Amino acid sequence: MAPNELPIKLVGMTVDDLMEDLYVDIPSGSNSTCESGPSNDDTDNPFEAGSDSDDDDIPLAEVQRNLRASRGPSQPPTPPTISVWIPPEWTMLRLTLTRALSRAKISPKHLSVITREAGNQPQKIEVYIDDQKVMVEPGTTVLQAAALVGVEIPRFCYHERLAVAGNCRMCLVEVEKSPKPVAACAMPVMKGWRVKTNSPLTRKAREGVMEFLLVNHPLDCPICDQGGECDLQDQSMAFGSDRSRFTDIDFEGKRAVEDKDIGPLIKTIMTRCIHCTRCIRFASEVAGIDDLGTTGRGTDMQIGTYVEKFFMSELSGNVIDLCPVGALTSKPYSFTARPWEIRKIDSIDVLDALGSNIVVSTRTNEVMRILPRVNEEINEEWISDKSRFSYDGLKRQRLVAPMLRNSDCELRPVDWEAALLTTAKVIKNAGSNIAAIAGGFADAEALVALKDLLNKLGSEALCTEYTFPMNGSGTDLRSNYLLNNGIAKVEEADLVLLIGTNPRFEAPILNARIRKGYIHNESEIAVIGPEIDLRYEYQHIGTDPEVLQDLASGKHPFAKQLKKAKRPIIIVGSETLEREDGGAILAAAQSLASTTSAEPGWKVINVLQKVASQVAALDIGYAPGAAKVREMKNLKVLFLLGADEKVLEKSDIPKDCFIIYQGHHGDYGACIADAVFPGAAYTEKQATYVNTEGRAQQTLVAVSPPGQAREDWKIIRALSEFVGAKLPYDTLDEVRDRLEDVAPHLTRYGYSEDANYFKQALELAKKSNAKMDKTAFCLNQLELEDFFMTDTISRASPTMAKCIQAVKKQKESKY
Ligand code: SF4
Ligand code: FES
Repeated sequence: MAPNELPIKLVGMTVDDLMEDLYVDIPSGSNSTCESGPSNDDTDNPFEAGSDSDDDDIPLAEVQRNLRASRGPSQPPTPPTISVWIPPEWTMLRLTLTRALSRAKISPKHLSVITREAGNQPQKIEVYIDDQKVMVEPGTTVLQAAALVGVEIPRFCYHERLAVAGNCRMCLVEVEKSPKPVAACAMPVMKGWRVKTNSPLTRKAREGVMEFLLVNHPLDCPICDQGGECDLQDQSMAFGSDRSRFTDIDFEGKRAVEDKDIGPLIKTIMTRCIHCTRCIRFASEVAGIDDLGTTGRGTDMQIGTYVEKFFMSELSGNVIDLCPVGALTSKPYSFTARPWEIRKIDSIDVLDALGSNIVVSTRTNEVMRILPRVNEEINEEWISDKSRFSYDGLKRQRLVAPMLRNSDCELRPVDWEAALLTTAKVIKNAGSNIAAIAGGFADAEALVALKDLLNKLGSEALCTEYTFPMNGSGTDLRSNYLLNNGIAKVEEADLVLLIGTNPRFEAPILNARIRKGYIHNESEIAVIGPEIDLRYEYQHIGTDPEVLQDLASGKHPFAKQLKKAKRPIIIVGSETLEREDGGAILAAAQSLASTTSAEPGWKVINVLQKVASQVAALDIGYAPGAAKVREMKNLKVLFLLGADEKVLEKSDIPKDCFIIYQGHHGDYGACIADAVFPGAAYTEKQATYVNTEGRAQQTLVAVSPPGQAREDWKIIRALSEFVGAKLPYDTLDEVRDRLEDVAPHLTRYGYSEDANYFKQALELAKKSNAKMDKTAFCLNQLELEDFFMTDTISRASPTMAKCIQAVKKQKESKY
């Protein structure tokens, strides 16, 4: 038996019965066949003469009877072995078959499940879509085959990243010789099929479906937030009829459903719902929250949370994009803008270190909303709720004018010239006694400009807010601080070991990838650190770093699993590496990674960063952590480039030290500063960020900075002129040329520069002899309420504050 064949005992069950028992969805009309793989035999076609449309109903009872008879009455009955071929679209199930079977009550013994990989690649089959010939793999659905020849079939419930539901019937098409139209999204093609996507029958079927949908739809498009970008509107225009047979002869009114309150992010107008179940499937498959579901049948059917409760997920906003009608819309965006009024700018998100691709919608120089943009390598088409909804924080607590602290110790607005002149005078007097700390939102252009300025002044004291162990090769080798294997490959791993990290809140999109691997690839997941709710099952194998030593020595039972994994991934949280013994933890993780039998080219050791600026800062040459600054007894000027996380108190630096704060929000940094320079936020500048996997990407200008705020590198460039250490660049292109000189990969946008030298990093780490502490790992973000406010933008966001309140209220509720 091939390694991925799984035996199941069938006791008089049909395959469909079995699947139903295991809560596995089977697309209606799909051709599960027994005793064979995909057959191209003409007789498989249920629409042709002589075909057996009851192939699914295997006469198992009969087989059993015969077996029993052949053995005689004294022998225990042995169920037959049945091979079931799983078509590829079935791999998009909520649980993989094998994982589902492992939890099933029946004993899996005599069914071998043959996946595509297990056997030889089946031959392609020929089908005709609107008389165009197309060769497809067996199992391809009609809808997918049509897409291959550029024919788009309308759909509501089908979504390529979710399991097939087949319940809206909008995708009905005519298949030659078929008595009825078939649902294209759920029907695998058969050899020689001739599909007609624009025949009178197909058009009539679509018009019928549309007519039924509109009977129960409120048709309140003028006041619907989805208006202008609604699938129902578009498809009723393209495929619907120009009149309806619906007349309310009894004046009963249309079907109406009460709206649900599912929190401060999602507005529900459930009368508009067309029961496509995309939201339910997203919640249960991608987000791992089973809160959404259906109640009632027929006209009483409703989508909701069963009892009124907050949709407690860090990814909840994605259901707004998935909802094809206006049933789920954005609460903060409601009634604020129409799609034809807004301008859309492609950008990237900086609220975590993943660099999710986004579209910033603006109107009259105001960010109206943020939506995800497809990037298969990073965020697919999802973003976290913090990335999506915290944009209102960009309009509050902004620094809009330069400020200087006066003799009464109050910060007062001044003009740029006065601010730069005063500051330059202090800097000139300080000489080389100047240091800088870069915060989590600093872009690569500002980082390189600040470094050049301080280097020109004779100082090398440039740090980031977040520390990183400098034992061994420290930050000299990029592989020490990158998510080396890349975000997308996480879902291919067969084993994931999380060390001192909570990806669910530190990088929700990465966590969704881990969950995807767990569901579709059956990856084993283990956690060392606090026991947290990751929305998938995992083995909790310890809370302190000592477990790493046990794993390395083979004492721990999990060591065997780790050793035999072919594609293991170890993810170490950067927060954990900030501990005193971070060096020893990283060294232990590196040494553990070296003991695995991973495939060649597979990178086992990965570090998950928490903030958007860290990788670029380390690439440019900033020292991690502010320890260096704390040690400077003669410090005269401290430059905080968006550093707001209280890594340094005023008491940590000399009393006469002059603090300059440059950033976009009036947060902690501005409070302790003597001079404040207002900078631009990520939606207001064209700037480079490098994500945790080492991929350089850029934000684009969506709105102009408020008041007198300016792009960060421009402020530093202007200051350098006042100081008398003029930086040699005047345009963005020139700064980027300088970036390219420092590290060429910083300007190769869209590409991630691979890091190597794993062996060397390990050797150096071993030599460092760092000592490990036995203290248990502890993390800042453990619960959902810890996720929403983690930086200056989200702390200023009223929506994020409402989310925290909603989570707390929900926790008090008995549901
Ligand atoms: S709320 Fe929207 S996404 Fe959910 S079932 Fe209804 S129409 Fe589909
Ligand atoms: S898209 Fe095919 S049934 Fe809904």
